Amino acid sequence: MAEPASRSIRAKAARETAAPLVPENPTIPKLQQAAARCTACELHLLGSQTVFGEGPEKARVMLVGEQPGDREDVEGHPFVGPAGKLLDRALEDAEIEREDVYVTNVVKHFRWEARGKRRLHRKPAMAHITACRPWLDAELAVVNPEVLVCLGATAAQAIAGRSFKVTERRGEFVDVEGIDALVTATVHPSSILRADDVNRDAEMAAFVRDLTTVRRSLDG
Ligand code: URA
Repeated sequence: MAEPASRSIRAKAARETAAPLVPENPTIPKLQQAAARCTACELHLLGSQTVFGEGPEKARVMLVGEQPGDREDVEGHPFVGPAGKLLDRALEDAEIEREDVYVTNVVKHFRWEARGKRRLHRKPAMAHITACRPWLDAELAVVNPEVLVCLGATAAQAIAGRSFKVTERRGEFVDVEGIDALVTATVHPSSILRADDVNRDAEMAAFVRDLTTVRRSLDG
């Protein structure tokens, strides 16, 4: 007998997200283990491994990037490649200890295309972001940060809504329905790596300013 339409649509939606894989009473180690076997979207065939979030389970700040890059895909940890090194320098300048921060991405597998021998980053599609979202929601529920910092437009739009413009609203704190933390957005550190020599220092200084605002919001 055919499934009623609404039930089959719900079942299909569940299959297309990681929701059925999220364990009950999650902890970060339990989520990391479960996500390692995630096949909710086809990116698990492309990336070498799931790159899950890392950091203290009770961090006051959560940083959310887009997706792991080439280095992260190889090493299995978020923000350990060139963008991660720049992020580390900016956190240090803003007087935030990286060890105190939970760092993750909206998509947990590397999406790339071959260019010769190189693996070039490709932006994740909405379907990948949707499929992966239950992992981010579970991380948010476990860590329950006071401040959620979106790094770049992909993270900002996934979290604060598709019309959110980082260029116009960076450094502001906004309330987002369904998220307990204060949400703020700044640029993605890789945009600073791509900036030309004339603008790079100013862009780094602005990034550090945004992160300093985050640190001060915790102090006060
Ligand atoms: N870029 C991201 O968005 N996340 C990483 O983990 C690395 C690079």
